[in-house]
Amino acid sequence: MTAPSAHFRDEARVLHPEKAREVVVAGGGLIGLSIAWRAAQRGLSVTVVDDAPGAGASRAAAGMLAPVTEASYGEEALLRLCLASLQRWPAFAAELEEAGGVPVGLRTAGTLVVGFDADDQRALDALLAYQRELGLAVERLTPREARRREPSLTPRLRGALQVAGDHSVDPRAVHAGLLAAAAAAGVVLVRGRVAGVRVEGGRATGVQLDDGSALAAGTVVLALGAHGGRLPGAPDVPVRPVKGQILRLAGAAGLLEGTVRALVRGRHVYLVPYAGDRLVVGATVEDRGFDARVTAGGVHDLLRDAIEVVPGVTELELVETLARWRPGTPDNAPVLGPAGVPGLVLATGHHRNGALLTPVTADLVTELLVTGALPELAAPFTLDRFPHQEAQCS
Ligand code: GLY
Repeated sequence: MTAPSAHFRDEARVLHPEKAREVVVAGGGLIGLSIAWRAAQRGLSVTVVDDAPGAGASRAAAGMLAPVTEASYGEEALLRLCLASLQRWPAFAAELEEAGGVPVGLRTAGTLVVGFDADDQRALDALLAYQRELGLAVERLTPREARRREPSLTPRLRGALQVAGDHSVDPRAVHAGLLAAAAAAGVVLVRGRVAGVRVEGGRATGVQLDDGSALAAGTVVLALGAHGGRLPGAPDVPVRPVKGQILRLAGAAGLLEGTVRALVRGRHVYLVPYAGDRLVVGATVEDRGFDARVTAGGVHDLLRDAIEVVPGVTELELVETLARWRPGTPDNAPVLGPAGVPGLVLATGHHRNGALLTPVTADLVTELLVTGALPELAAPFTLDRFPHQEAQCS
């Protein structure tokens, strides 16, 4: 079957005339569940299918809501999407806490970026220049000023930037809240592993599960993260697993006010404090396919750098190590909207920004599901920006 890439934005092709209100969302991570919640709120009949909801990238995510400190050269469209989502986060968090009954740990103390040697300092200067060129709010701090804000930082810093607008949230709490809120809104959760998309008469009519059963739908949303690249019945989506190893530590109450990101002689590390006494240290970035091993080298590098940035980390208890896969794409931006097969919608490829992009993705995809029109904000992120993709035979 050929995916008609030239017509991906012909939204009228996306929805089935009668059954469009019955939606199956494949994937119960932050992205899939938030779409399901929003879609159910708008009156759609939604089923989420996942064999282990929230056990993928959502479980390893540090929860940084960091459009500014994640901004990279040439990714201005992604930055706009990230900023639009950041703006939605306070209301999203409040509504989710109300609906799901779980505090989601939105922390608005901002982010400090610190560097250690002359090269790190040059990198921070270049970052500052780029961020200012984009009109983003960033302030240069002396090491002393940085330590005034975060007294647990090492005195051996070379320089620092303060990014007041980059926040964080507890992604596991967000996921728990979404499970409760979605259920309360009428979303049905089916435990199962999606093996393919059912296509009949040239359009998606549901999903096939690996136990041989199937779920029928007017519209299928694929939110399978790094696992959504090659699925029978769906076009190939250029997502690849980008492995990240992450550490959780306990005993960190009061250690940090907000997120600290560091360049330690060219190596990146971040420390994200959560409510209670938890601290997340992350993350490695590795192209190793679906390799779930936590390695001695990965843990060593993260701890060495974290301790160099905040020496007090040495006293904390290491309570969890985990490796999962960011859904990376060739341009680091998500893939949103029509998949080129009528009735099939994509919400994947959120790479380093899954938690941040959750509210805006839910709004944009739900708008498409309800009205048949993909909002303009999502236009740069459709699948047809990549070379022609073929649907897999189901
Ligand atoms: N957003 C942080 C990471 O992907 O490691």
